[in-house]
Amino acid sequence: MTVEEKDRAAAIFKPETGRIVAARMLTETEKFFRVVLDHGGPLGHKPGQFVEVSIFGIGEAPISICSSPTQEDSFEMCVRNVGSVTNAMHQMGAGAEIGLRGPYGNGFDMEAMKGRDVLFVAGGLGMAPARGVIKYVLDKRHDFNIVTILYGAKNPSELLFKEDLEEWQARPDCDFHVTVDRPDDSWKGNTGVITTLFRNISNIDARNAWAVVVGPPVMYKYVILEALSIGIPESRILCSLERRMKCGVGKCGHCQISNVYVCKEGPVFTYSQIKRLREGI
Ligand SMILES: Cc1cc2nc3c(=O)[nH]c(=O)nc-3n(C[C@H](O)[C@H](O)[C@H](O)COP(=O)(O)OP(=O)(O)OC[C@H]3O[C@@H](n4cnc5c(N)ncnc54)[C@H](O)[C@@H]3O)c2cc1C
Ligand code: FES
Repeated sequence: MTVEEKDRAAAIFKPETGRIVAARMLTETEKFFRVVLDHGGPLGHKPGQFVEVSIFGIGEAPISICSSPTQEDSFEMCVRNVGSVTNAMHQMGAGAEIGLRGPYGNGFDMEAMKGRDVLFVAGGLGMAPARGVIKYVLDKRHDFNIVTILYGAKNPSELLFKEDLEEWQARPDCDFHVTVDRPDDSWKGNTGVITTLFRNISNIDARNAWAVVVGPPVMYKYVILEALSIGIPESRILCSLERRMKCGVGKCGHCQISNVYVCKEGPVFTYSQIKRLREGI
């Protein structure tokens, strides 16, 4: 390898810097961050992509971008506090500097969805990546046909982005349904697992619709069965997979399933593709 080739290879691991301009807790364990890049330009992401966040002196973690690229001046993330990097992020507020690599991953093919019905099914923290896609579709509402959003959380206190949920509920051009597994005394809505919301879907042209499914691994099997049972084809059911990642750029193999690097070829796959991947779901 020449010196120039080595420099080029090293450059892909060099983070750029950005500043947190807003931060607030969404739940007991999830924190919201809005970030402006120091170069002043947009992140230039596609809905469904992620960034590798660097906390200097601690490490890196892949985090989904939960805002739409139609919001150009900043981008947003929702981070669950589970370990060293995410805990360090939770100690940060407006004004703090972070490092970023990306955006990475394939993201969702929004062009292919144009003119079609789109069904979103988001469970738990899956609402973070799903929100970026939902916001994109609602910002470009005329490009899409019927938009249905199904969202499930374990209990009401774990629901993310409550202001967005209220807005979607109020919009006449979006069919929004939410459920919780374990209601508390204040909960007046649906109770039950997310698949119970499928009975609320109406008027969609399933053969031509797209389903966007994001959630914990346990959810996929059941949601995919429901989506297939209403007639959405396997090749139009899109799932975003989460795998342990390190480099994010197809170099280290941490995210590999069979011969597929989830960080590069995913994290978004059609159900037809996942079926061929052993341990895909
Ligand atoms: C494409 C992608 C998008 C993601 N988007 C988000 C997001 O939007 N918000 C968010 O909060 N999290 C997201 N995650 C998960 C996040 O990357 C991990 O929680 C994070 O890397 C943990 O880093 P840490 O240093 O805080 O924890 P560590 O100190 O590394 O580990 C804490 C605990 O979490 C486990 N762990 C670490 N990484 C993972 C992982 N990838 N999967 C399962 N268990 C893990 C460890 O074994 C340990 O038990 C995403 C992951 C991927 C691959
Ligand atoms: S995370 Fe390194 S190859 Fe995918």
